[in-house]
Amino acid sequence: MQTQSMQRRLEIEIDAKRLIDELNTLATFSSVEPSVIGTAVTRIVFTPDDLRARTWLKQLAQAEGLSIREDAVGNTFFRWAGSEPGLPAVATGSHIDAIPHAGMYDGTVGVLGGLEAIRTLKRSGLRPRRSIELVLLTSEEPTRFGIGCVGSRLISGTLSPERADALHGAQRGSEDETLAQVRSAAGFTGPLSSVRLPNGHYHAWVELHIEQGPLLEREGIPLGIVTAIAAPAGYRFTIEGIGGHAGALLMPDRRDALCAAAELILSIEKHALATGVIDTVATVGTCDVYPGAVNSVPSRVTLQVDVRDIDPVRREGVMQGVRRDVEAIGKLREVRVSETLVNADQPALSSPHIVAVLDEVCRSYGITPKHMVARAYHDSSFIAGIAPIAMIFIPCRGGVSHRPDEYAAPGDIALGARVLAATLATLAAE
Ligand code: GLV
Ligand code: MN
Ligand code: MN
Repeated sequence: MQTQSMQRRLEIEIDAKRLIDELNTLATFSSVEPSVIGTAVTRIVFTPDDLRARTWLKQLAQAEGLSIREDAVGNTFFRWAGSEPGLPAVATGSHIDAIPHAGMYDGTVGVLGGLEAIRTLKRSGLRPRRSIELVLLTSEEPTRFGIGCVGSRLISGTLSPERADALHGAQRGSEDETLAQVRSAAGFTGPLSSVRLPNGHYHAWVELHIEQGPLLEREGIPLGIVTAIAAPAGYRFTIEGIGGHAGALLMPDRRDALCAAAELILSIEKHALATGVIDTVATVGTCDVYPGAVNSVPSRVTLQVDVRDIDPVRREGVMQGVRRDVEAIGKLREVRVSETLVNADQPALSSPHIVAVLDEVCRSYGITPKHMVARAYHDSSFIAGIAPIAMIFIPCRGGVSHRPDEYAAPGDIALGARVLAATLATLAAE
């Protein structure tokens, strides 16, 4: 049995050219202006570009004879039925939404790499015992609704259907639209409660993704196996001061909300650095200034804060330090600061069994993989609530991600898809 599956692994040959061509095509479903440093992609969930990309992807899957199911939030399931279709399936998947001015590999390598892995297995003549499913997850990026992994949170019950439907647009000018409105306008109707999948729905889940960090490239290792995914938390701070005329409002009388926000941002950086641990990271990625005119003193500022750590207790320690500073800033500057928790997630651990299968597959290909922590978050963190998970990382140039110069080499992408295919085949035989 072992020998047979090893034999099967050696037969797997990814069509790297097709995979790269398809990644390039997917990158054209984008609303961003061209970039001189790389392929810039902006594909916000449920925009026309996202919907066109989904249609294209469904055509590819249909051509492979995969069955397609879409749920009420647009998570899309492409299934290759196994010989025992009643057994929990083995799944792979990722996302195709991209933050503003991003690159073309984040998420997409896992979706198109997953499709190519399935095609390769079909071509090899494999008849899997368990069904193998590719899943496109909705809104992994928090751009549109202020919280990431909406689709996988709903699948695992980490986000309630009511709260999800009530999520508001996170970008200026879109505050009035809710997920409920946006998804139904995109054609995804029905109650969000139906998105939930039961524990044990999948026998195993493996996501292929670019590392989004520098370690694999730096250490010259072609492949990483993720053993844990760091825990992200998100907060929204609103600072209310007093606005007025930029020329006439005297400096001693000011209650400038943006000046207070600047202190708050520096406090966040200070407390994240103060842990002295490389695993603590904190970012203020948006700053919405009201009324936003050059000759008007800012009266209100909203900041979105992203704090991550593999240790949620240490992460909370950062926020406690920030809150102490917030109190002092509020008093000193006579501004009101309010804090809203968006999400505070737990780290996810990979399944030792899937990690062992991945190790074995790598060994059979002569690869010594690096066991590593994922610092970005991923849908796999939430799928971990209903299934054993693991992730495959491939190197990306300079560790760059969320930028147009994000790049993964064709050979590394193909290798990742090959290891994914062999792993899916092994798990589907169990
Ligand atoms: C996902 O893109 C993340 O922010 O980690
Ligand atoms: Mn991303
Ligand atoms: Mn991603």
